[in-house]
Amino acid sequence: MEDELLAEAAEVAEAAYAPYSNFRVGAVVVAADGQRFTGVNVENAAYGSTQCAEASAMANAVTAGHTDIKTIAVACIDAEGDCYPCGNCRQMMRELGVETIIVRTPNGAARQHTLAELLPDSFGPESL
Ligand code: THU
Repeated sequence: MEDELLAEAAEVAEAAYAPYSNFRVGAVVVAADGQRFTGVNVENAAYGSTQCAEASAMANAVTAGHTDIKTIAVACIDAEGDCYPCGNCRQMMRELGVETIIVRTPNGAARQHTLAELLPDSFGPESL
């Protein structure tokens, strides 16, 4: 399951629009009902307008009516080191209930984390 999701994330990363960083990222989210949605990073000449792959994938899930996401897998196919989701994407995951984050290590192996590990003591909907 982990390896299959990472393979799908790596495959979709080929579609990334990353002409500035040449750092292509792909993400796959698994909604509560098992449906999967993908996303890639979409860069912009106004660099701050760049969208991460994870954010794209989560937005695609929400667009299809899925606001309850269980798992997200991320693959950075141009990375030499580990590739972990940025802070902003972790906060988005928190909002949508992500429990498990799967990252692809440089040798291709899967590493799995809970959201609580990557975003401890977080702020969420029930904090309001
Ligand atoms: N990027 C992602 O897509 N996800 C992350 O979690 C970290 C960074 C993208 C944004 C930008 O297009 C490129 O990677 C370099 O930062």
